[in-house]
Amino acid sequence: MMNMEPQGGFSYSEADFRRVQEIARQEAGISLPISKRSLVFSRVSRRIRATGRASFRDYLDYVSMREGQEELKELICVLTTNVTQFFREKSHFEHLETHVLPQLGQKLRAGGRGRFWSAACSTGQEPWSMAMSIMAELPDALRMDLKILATDINHAVVETGRIGQYPGEEVQSVPQRWRDAYMEPVEMAQFSMAREIRRLVTFRQLNLNRDWPFKGQFDVIFCRNVVIYFDDETRNALWKRLAERLVPGGFLYVGHSERVDCIRECHLEAVAPTIYMKKG
Ligand SMILES: C[S@@+](CC[C@H](N)C(=O)[O-])C[C@H]1O[C@@H](n2cnc3c(N)ncnc32)[C@H](O)[C@@H]1O
Repeated sequence: MMNMEPQGGFSYSEADFRRVQEIARQEAGISLPISKRSLVFSRVSRRIRATGRASFRDYLDYVSMREGQEELKELICVLTTNVTQFFREKSHFEHLETHVLPQLGQKLRAGGRGRFWSAACSTGQEPWSMAMSIMAELPDALRMDLKILATDINHAVVETGRIGQYPGEEVQSVPQRWRDAYMEPVEMAQFSMAREIRRLVTFRQLNLNRDWPFKGQFDVIFCRNVVIYFDDETRNALWKRLAERLVPGGFLYVGHSERVDCIRECHLEAVAPTIYMKKG
């Protein structure tokens, strides 16, 4: 069998790569193309070293056993891509601020509820950006029944989001007046989300392709730049489940390179590029 070991270290065969592909698909719905094989090698090698296993084969056998289930979660973490930034795809936040929050504010002031979901939140910049848009448009948000749920399959990035502390260069994309209002400078040139705004966001580890342990519906769902890692079937199944979780008139925001194909079946209407509204 061809050895694909790209840069020294453990021996790495096609069969090893195929096993990792299968685990990623089964556990997370993630498709790993062949172009990722070197990346997979270096990331999995790190876990092999950290766990003191002898080889790819030994490690992959281990994560398939009952006693390797905690390590399986770590493997999934290293197979995810977590690139994100504050106010990524700015048009979504402009739409939220101008088309969604003013109307939702009326409902909330009349005693209604507002539920937001950042469904693949990575290290938290997305839900914190949502929170800042909300606070800016609805300054009385903390007195309303309004909550943001932030979830990701990768428990490590969820923890980073919950800690909510970012280096100065990362917060450059946050408008200065919002940085002043909703962040606090802390040690080592870092910025921490301010105490008040933290009350809006709850972080949880969640696999989008498994059962969701909550029943409610959402006014706004951001599910951006995650289905690009899924195959068509997984992606379409997820769009349907997300659409079911939108209240009538609720909005789904997807990544700029993504598209919802099942809009009729999902009772969605495309209201702007990569923004969909649930029909009433
Ligand atoms: C590229 S980041 C996108 C972050 C953010 N939504 C954005 O657009 O900036 C993709 C995220 O999806 C998460 N992810 C991948 N598969 C997932 C799954 N099955 N369930 C939940 N999250 C998943 C990854 O851990 C990663 O943090």
